Amino acid sequence: MLAELSPALIAEVHDAAKLLASKQRICLLTGAGISAESGIPTFRDKQTGLWENHRAEDLATPEAFACDPALVWSWYQWRRQLVADKKPNPAHKALAYWQHHAKANHQQLTLITQNVDDLHEQAGSTVVHLHGNLARNRCSQCQTPYTSASNHSKDSEALDNSDVDRQDAETLITCSHCGGYIRPDIVWFGESLPVQAWQTAEEAAADCEVFISIGTSSLVYPAAGLAQLAKRNGAKVIEINPNPTPNTTVDMIIKEKAGIIMPVLVKQITGS
Ligand code: OAD
Repeated sequence: MLAELSPALIAEVHDAAKLLASKQRICLLTGAGISAESGIPTFRDKQTGLWENHRAEDLATPEAFACDPALVWSWYQWRRQLVADKKPNPAHKALAYWQHHAKANHQQLTLITQNVDDLHEQAGSTVVHLHGNLARNRCSQCQTPYTSASNHSKDSEALDNSDVDRQDAETLITCSHCGGYIRPDIVWFGESLPVQAWQTAEEAAADCEVFISIGTSSLVYPAAGLAQLAKRNGAKVIEINPNPTPNTTVDMIIKEKAGIIMPVLVKQITGS
Protein backbone atom coordinates (compact mmCIF):
# COMPACT_ATOMS: atom_id res chain seq x y z
CA MET A 1 0.00 0.00 0.00
CA LEU A 2 2.84 2.39 0.88
CA ALA A 3 4.24 1.85 -2.61
CA GLU A 4 1.22 3.73 -4.01
CA LEU A 5 2.23 6.90 -2.18
CA SER A 6 4.86 9.44 -3.17
CA PRO A 7 7.77 9.93 -0.73
CA ALA A 8 6.27 13.29 0.28
CA LEU A 9 2.92 11.68 1.12
CA ILE A 10 4.60 8.85 3.01
CA ALA A 11 6.39 11.46 5.12
CA GLU A 12 3.11 13.31 5.76
CA VAL A 13 1.34 10.12 6.84
CA HIS A 14 4.27 9.34 9.16
CA ASP A 15 3.99 12.81 10.68
CA ALA A 16 0.24 12.44 11.16
CA ALA A 17 0.69 9.01 12.76
CA LYS A 18 3.33 10.50 15.08
CA LEU A 19 0.98 13.31 16.06
CA LEU A 20 -1.78 10.81 16.80
CA ALA A 21 0.40 8.35 18.72
CA SER A 22 -0.66 7.96 22.34
CA LYS A 23 -3.49 10.50 22.02
CA GLN A 24 -6.51 9.57 24.09
CA ARG A 25 -9.20 11.80 22.59
CA ILE A 26 -9.61 12.07 18.83
CA CYS A 27 -12.51 13.62 16.92
CA LEU A 28 -13.13 13.03 13.22
CA LEU A 29 -15.50 14.89 10.91
CA THR A 30 -16.31 13.38 7.53
CA GLY A 31 -18.07 14.88 4.52
CA ALA A 32 -19.23 13.83 1.08
CA GLY A 33 -15.64 13.30 -0.10
CA ILE A 34 -15.27 10.15 1.98
CA SER A 35 -18.12 8.53 0.04
CA ALA A 36 -16.90 9.76 -3.36
CA GLU A 37 -14.77 6.65 -3.91
CA SER A 38 -17.88 4.53 -3.26
CA GLY A 39 -19.48 6.20 -6.27
CA ILE A 40 -21.65 8.80 -4.52
CA PRO A 41 -21.15 12.26 -6.06
CA THR A 42 -20.23 15.07 -3.66
CA PHE A 43 -22.43 18.15 -3.27
CA ARG A 44 -20.09 20.41 -5.21
CA ASP A 45 -19.97 17.94 -8.15
CA LYS A 46 -22.25 18.96 -11.00
CA GLN A 47 -25.43 16.87 -10.96
CA THR A 48 -26.04 14.52 -13.86
CA GLY A 49 -28.89 13.12 -15.94
CA LEU A 50 -32.37 14.37 -15.15
CA TRP A 51 -31.03 16.66 -12.48
CA GLU A 52 -28.21 18.34 -14.38
CA ASN A 53 -30.03 21.66 -14.47
CA HIS A 54 -30.62 21.74 -10.72
CA ARG A 55 -28.18 22.69 -7.98
CA ALA A 56 -28.20 20.55 -4.83
CA GLU A 57 -28.12 23.74 -2.75
CA ASP A 58 -31.37 24.89 -4.37
CA LEU A 59 -33.23 21.62 -3.77
CA ALA A 60 -32.12 20.92 -0.17
CA THR A 61 -34.11 23.75 1.39
CA PRO A 62 -37.46 24.06 3.18
CA GLU A 63 -38.35 26.83 0.71
CA ALA A 64 -37.85 24.49 -2.26
CA PHE A 65 -40.06 21.85 -0.62
CA ALA A 66 -42.78 24.42 0.19
CA CYS A 67 -42.66 25.71 -3.39
CA ASP A 68 -42.51 22.35 -5.21
CA PRO A 69 -42.70 19.37 -2.83
CA ALA A 70 -43.01 16.83 -5.67
CA LEU A 71 -39.77 18.05 -7.25
CA VAL A 72 -37.79 17.85 -3.99
CA TRP A 73 -39.33 14.49 -3.06
CA SER A 74 -38.48 12.95 -6.43
CA TRP A 75 -34.91 14.29 -6.18
CA TYR A 76 -34.52 12.52 -2.84
CA GLN A 77 -36.05 9.31 -4.23
CA TRP A 78 -33.49 9.52 -7.04
CA ARG A 79 -30.71 10.06 -4.50
CA ARG A 80 -31.93 7.06 -2.49
CA GLN A 81 -31.69 4.90 -5.58
CA LEU A 82 -28.24 6.28 -6.28
CA VAL A 83 -27.03 5.34 -2.79
CA ALA A 84 -28.94 2.06 -2.36
CA ASP A 85 -26.32 -0.27 -3.85
CA LYS A 86 -23.22 1.63 -2.73
CA LYS A 87 -20.71 -0.04 -0.45
CA PRO A 88 -18.14 1.28 2.04
CA ASN A 89 -14.72 2.01 0.53
CA PRO A 90 -11.29 1.50 2.16
CA ALA A 91 -11.59 4.84 4.03
CA HIS A 92 -14.86 3.85 5.74
CA LYS A 93 -13.43 0.42 6.55
CA ALA A 94 -10.17 1.81 7.95
CA LEU A 95 -12.10 4.23 10.19
CA ALA A 96 -14.31 1.41 11.49
CA TYR A 97 -11.26 -0.71 12.25
CA TRP A 98 -9.58 2.21 14.02
CA GLN A 99 -12.71 2.88 16.08
CA HIS A 100 -12.85 -0.75 17.28
CA HIS A 101 -9.12 -0.71 18.03
CA ALA A 102 -9.48 2.55 19.98
CA LYS A 103 -12.38 1.18 22.00
CA ALA A 104 -10.41 -1.91 22.95
CA ASN A 105 -7.58 0.38 24.09
CA HIS A 106 -9.87 2.71 26.07
CA GLN A 107 -9.28 5.64 23.73
CA GLN A 108 -12.07 7.99 22.77
CA LEU A 109 -12.55 8.24 19.02
CA THR A 110 -15.68 10.17 18.08
CA LEU A 111 -16.76 9.91 14.46
CA ILE A 112 -19.07 12.67 13.23
CA THR A 113 -20.44 12.86 9.70
CA GLN A 114 -22.29 15.36 7.57
CA ASN A 115 -23.25 12.53 5.22
CA VAL A 116 -26.77 11.18 5.03
CA ASP A 117 -25.71 7.80 3.61
CA ASP A 118 -25.10 4.81 5.91
CA LEU A 119 -21.68 3.75 4.61
CA HIS A 120 -19.96 4.36 7.97
CA GLU A 121 -22.50 2.08 9.65
CA GLN A 122 -22.20 -0.52 6.89
CA ALA A 123 -18.45 -0.56 7.56
CA GLY A 124 -19.13 -1.18 11.27
CA SER A 125 -18.65 2.31 12.76
CA THR A 126 -20.67 4.10 15.38
CA VAL A 127 -21.28 7.55 13.93
CA VAL A 128 -23.00 10.80 14.86
CA HIS A 129 -25.08 12.12 11.94
CA LEU A 130 -25.29 15.92 11.91
CA HIS A 131 -27.41 16.27 8.77
CA GLY A 132 -29.92 13.45 9.24
CA ASN A 133 -30.35 10.16 7.51
CA LEU A 134 -31.47 9.37 3.97
CA ALA A 135 -33.14 6.21 5.24
CA ARG A 136 -35.71 8.07 7.32
CA ASN A 137 -38.79 10.14 6.54
CA ARG A 138 -41.04 12.32 8.66
CA CYS A 139 -44.07 14.54 8.32
CA SER A 140 -43.20 18.08 7.22
CA GLN A 141 -46.05 19.43 9.41
CA CYS A 142 -46.36 17.43 12.63
CA GLN A 143 -42.85 15.86 12.46
CA THR A 144 -44.19 12.32 13.12
CA PRO A 145 -41.70 9.75 11.80
CA TYR A 146 -43.03 7.98 8.73
CA THR A 147 -42.56 4.29 8.07
CA SER A 148 -44.13 2.79 4.97
CA ALA A 149 -46.67 0.03 5.58
CA SER A 150 -44.40 -2.63 4.13
CA ASN A 151 -41.63 -1.53 6.47
CA HIS A 152 -43.62 -1.76 9.71
CA SER A 153 -42.61 -5.36 10.17
CA LYS A 154 -38.90 -4.65 9.82
CA ASP A 155 -36.77 -4.21 12.94
CA SER A 156 -34.01 -2.12 11.46
CA GLU A 157 -33.84 1.44 10.27
CA ALA A 158 -32.36 0.33 6.96
CA LEU A 159 -32.89 2.41 3.84
CA ASP A 160 -36.58 2.30 3.07
CA ASN A 161 -36.19 0.67 -0.31
CA SER A 162 -39.81 -0.38 -0.29
CA ASP A 163 -40.60 3.25 -1.05
CA VAL A 164 -37.91 3.47 -3.68
CA ASP A 165 -39.02 0.31 -5.43
CA ARG A 166 -42.67 1.19 -5.58
CA GLN A 167 -43.94 2.20 -8.99
CA ASP A 168 -45.28 5.42 -7.55
CA ALA A 169 -42.03 6.11 -5.74
CA GLU A 170 -42.08 9.68 -6.98
CA THR A 171 -45.62 10.37 -5.81
CA LEU A 172 -45.89 12.47 -2.68
CA ILE A 173 -47.03 10.66 0.46
CA THR A 174 -49.23 12.30 3.10
CA CYS A 175 -49.14 11.89 6.86
CA SER A 176 -51.87 9.68 8.32
CA HIS A 177 -52.09 11.95 11.40
CA CYS A 178 -52.34 15.44 9.90
CA GLY A 179 -52.33 15.13 6.10
CA GLY A 180 -49.01 17.01 5.75
CA TYR A 181 -46.52 15.92 3.11
CA ILE A 182 -43.90 13.36 4.11
CA ARG A 183 -40.33 14.63 3.64
CA PRO A 184 -36.89 13.08 4.09
CA ASP A 185 -35.60 13.33 7.66
CA ILE A 186 -32.64 15.39 6.54
CA VAL A 187 -31.36 18.76 7.72
CA TRP A 188 -31.86 21.26 4.94
CA PHE A 189 -30.09 24.60 4.51
CA GLY A 190 -31.37 27.05 7.09
CA GLU A 191 -32.68 24.33 9.43
CA SER A 192 -31.36 23.45 12.90
CA LEU A 193 -29.19 20.43 13.50
CA PRO A 194 -30.52 17.59 15.69
CA VAL A 195 -29.91 18.77 19.28
CA GLN A 196 -28.40 15.58 20.70
CA ALA A 197 -26.10 14.97 17.71
CA TRP A 198 -24.86 18.56 17.75
CA GLN A 199 -24.22 18.48 21.51
CA THR A 200 -22.20 15.27 21.17
CA ALA A 201 -20.22 16.78 18.28
CA GLU A 202 -19.48 20.03 20.13
CA GLU A 203 -18.37 18.21 23.27
CA ALA A 204 -16.10 15.84 21.34
CA ALA A 205 -14.56 18.70 19.31
CA ALA A 206 -14.01 20.90 22.36
CA ASP A 207 -12.42 18.07 24.32
CA CYS A 208 -10.23 16.37 21.69
CA GLU A 209 -6.46 16.44 21.36
CA VAL A 210 -6.54 15.93 17.58
CA PHE A 211 -9.34 16.85 15.18
CA ILE A 212 -9.32 15.25 11.71
CA SER A 213 -11.38 16.67 8.88
CA ILE A 214 -11.86 14.20 6.02
CA GLY A 215 -13.50 14.86 2.64
CA THR A 216 -15.38 18.00 3.52
CA SER A 217 -15.28 21.37 1.75
CA SER A 218 -15.57 23.10 5.17
CA LEU A 219 -18.08 25.47 3.64
CA VAL A 220 -21.24 24.55 5.52
CA TYR A 221 -21.77 25.76 9.08
CA PRO A 222 -22.17 24.95 11.89
CA ALA A 223 -20.33 21.67 11.06
CA ALA A 224 -17.38 23.58 9.58
CA GLY A 225 -16.99 25.42 12.89
CA LEU A 226 -16.11 22.22 14.79
CA ALA A 227 -12.47 22.38 13.63
CA GLN A 228 -12.25 25.96 14.93
CA LEU A 229 -13.75 24.92 18.26
CA ALA A 230 -11.22 22.11 18.57
CA LYS A 231 -8.35 24.45 17.67
CA ARG A 232 -9.43 27.09 20.21
CA ASN A 233 -9.33 24.39 22.86
CA GLY A 234 -5.78 23.37 22.02
CA ALA A 235 -6.26 20.52 19.54
CA LYS A 236 -4.09 19.94 16.49
CA VAL A 237 -6.09 19.84 13.24
CA ILE A 238 -5.38 17.49 10.33
CA GLU A 239 -7.17 17.72 6.98
CA ILE A 240 -7.35 14.92 4.40
CA ASN A 241 -8.66 16.23 1.07
CA PRO A 242 -7.19 16.22 -2.45
CA ASN A 243 -8.42 19.80 -2.95
CA PRO A 244 -7.87 23.02 -1.01
CA THR A 245 -10.54 24.18 1.45
CA PRO A 246 -11.09 27.47 3.31
CA ASN A 247 -10.29 25.72 6.63
CA THR A 248 -7.62 27.98 8.14
CA THR A 249 -7.22 26.04 11.38
CA VAL A 250 -5.24 23.16 9.90
CA ASP A 251 -1.82 22.21 11.24
CA MET A 252 -1.31 19.45 8.69
CA ILE A 253 -2.87 18.91 5.26
CA ILE A 254 -2.65 15.59 3.43
CA LYS A 255 -3.68 16.33 -0.14
CA GLU A 256 -4.84 12.93 -1.32
CA LYS A 257 -8.00 10.81 -1.50
CA ALA A 258 -9.29 9.44 1.80
CA GLY A 259 -9.48 5.90 0.40
CA ILE A 260 -5.76 6.00 -0.27
CA ILE A 261 -4.59 7.71 2.93
CA MET A 262 -6.83 6.29 5.66
CA PRO A 263 -5.84 2.60 5.35
CA VAL A 264 -2.14 3.54 5.48
CA LEU A 265 -2.59 5.98 8.35
CA VAL A 266 -4.70 3.58 10.40
CA LYS A 267 -2.24 0.76 9.81
CA GLN A 268 0.57 2.92 11.17
CA ILE A 269 -1.45 4.04 14.19
CA THR A 270 -2.78 0.61 15.16
CA GLY A 271 0.22 -1.41 14.02
CA SER A 272 -2.14 -3.85 12.28
P1 OAD B 1 -18.89 18.95 -0.42
O1 OAD B 1 -19.46 18.38 -1.67
O2 OAD B 1 -19.10 20.38 -0.15
O3 OAD B 1 -17.31 18.74 -0.44
C1 OAD B 1 -16.74 17.49 -0.70
C2 OAD B 1 -15.27 17.61 -0.41
O4 OAD B 1 -14.71 16.32 -0.58
C3 OAD B 1 -14.52 18.55 -1.35
O5 OAD B 1 -13.69 19.43 -0.59
C4 OAD B 1 -13.65 17.61 -2.19
O6 OAD B 1 -12.39 18.18 -2.53
C5 OAD B 1 -13.47 16.45 -1.25
N1 OAD B 1 -13.19 15.15 -1.87
C6 OAD B 1 -13.61 14.69 -3.08
N2 OAD B 1 -13.21 13.43 -3.27
C7 OAD B 1 -12.51 13.07 -2.16
C8 OAD B 1 -11.84 11.89 -1.74
N3 OAD B 1 -11.81 10.79 -2.50
N4 OAD B 1 -11.24 11.88 -0.51
C9 OAD B 1 -11.26 12.98 0.28
N5 OAD B 1 -11.88 14.13 -0.07
C10 OAD B 1 -12.50 14.17 -1.26
O7 OAD B 1 -19.39 18.03 0.75
P2 OAD B 1 -19.52 18.37 2.30
O8 OAD B 1 -18.37 19.15 2.77
O9 OAD B 1 -19.86 17.10 2.97
O10 OAD B 1 -25.57 19.54 3.65
O11 OAD B 1 -20.80 19.30 2.30
C11 OAD B 1 -21.29 19.75 3.52
C12 OAD B 1 -22.77 19.82 3.47
O12 OAD B 1 -23.18 20.67 2.41
C13 OAD B 1 -23.48 18.51 3.16
O13 OAD B 1 -23.68 17.71 4.27
C14 OAD B 1 -24.77 18.96 2.60
C15 OAD B 1 -24.18 19.97 1.66
O14 OAD B 1 -24.94 20.73 0.91
C16 OAD B 1 -26.91 19.40 3.62
O15 OAD B 1 -27.49 18.72 2.80
C17 OAD B 1 -27.57 20.15 4.72
